[in-house]
Amino acid sequence: MSAARARARARAGEAATAPDLTAAVGSLRLPNPVMTAAGTAGHGAELGAYLDLASLGAVVVKSLAAFVWAGNPPPRVCPVPGGMLNSVGLQGPGVENWARDELPMLERAGARVVVSVWGRRVDEFARAAELVAAIAGGERSIIAVELNVSCPNLEDRSRMFAHSAVATSEAVAACRARLPGVPLWAKLSPNTPDLVAIAGAALGAGADGLTLVNTVLALMIDAATRTPTLGSVGGGLSGRAVHAVALRAVYECRRAFPDAPIVGVGGIEDGEGAVRMLMAGADAVQVGTATLADPRAPARVLAELGAWLEREGVRSVKEITGVAQR
Ligand SMILES: Cc1cc2nc3c(=O)[nH]c(=O)nc-3n(C[C@H](O)[C@H](O)[C@H](O)COP(=O)(O)O)c2cc1C
Repeated sequence: MSAARARARARAGEAATAPDLTAAVGSLRLPNPVMTAAGTAGHGAELGAYLDLASLGAVVVKSLAAFVWAGNPPPRVCPVPGGMLNSVGLQGPGVENWARDELPMLERAGARVVVSVWGRRVDEFARAAELVAAIAGGERSIIAVELNVSCPNLEDRSRMFAHSAVATSEAVAACRARLPGVPLWAKLSPNTPDLVAIAGAALGAGADGLTLVNTVLALMIDAATRTPTLGSVGGGLSGRAVHAVALRAVYECRRAFPDAPIVGVGGIEDGEGAVRMLMAGADAVQVGTATLADPRAPARVLAELGAWLEREGVRSVKEITGVAQR
């Protein structure tokens, strides 16, 4: 249906019922397509003070390793034009401590939980997956696992897993084998010309879906001190500045893999940002940096998405998924 016809229908009152916000990411059914993004909504139920976590499609927690990890030296974040730079360095309590201390609060809040895991070697990814497998299933609220392969691979001179099709497929395969029946998404990096090939490798190794994208490699310099602003020199750019990068990644992967579940993330600040990501081909979206500025951002994006669909006379989120493809 053309946008003009949809608007005419809306004006005529034909779309009187609220739009259907339900989303499907592969076999996973969600009440709506809006999630938090890993690392920007805490490890647990922190955002619950600002919004109803159960009202979101899912809560993606900060990436967890199989072990406690201290992260990078400060400063770890700084503002940059159009967004921010971070080098938090995946600080975290490890899967087991998280499951004991944080997961129960997420469950009490009624959140659908996506556990993000990382490792420095394939065997560390495998161990993290084993630990998640031990706590998932039954009545637990864990609905999917997201593999953050945008981290350095110690077995490949610290080149990012997600910059290599081979390393990505090894990490995915190791986790796939240990998480039978649990939806597994590979979260990829935009910092490679081979994104589509790497996405294909992830899907070929058993990923059920793709999360696109992680941060863009970047650097900021403090002119006064004449030194890099972040303690670890370089960092990851996120926020408005990466929105168009993420849209292109989603667009190209949707075109290459018409049936692959795709979760789009990068610079979504409002309902229209979510709409654009869906139109590029995402089945669902995540809100990251915007949440650091406004902890209610994921709920606001969801409300604005619903209002946009209603205004445009679009009856279902699925009607706009991938419509920008040509
Ligand atoms: C402070 C900060 C911490 C992050 N930590 C993680 C993380 O632990 N795991 C991960 O996969 N991505 C992490 N990310 C990346 C985000 O999940 C997201 O992919 C990226 O920031 C782009 O989305 P945005 O522009 O909406 O923030 C982090 C981003 C920020 C800003």
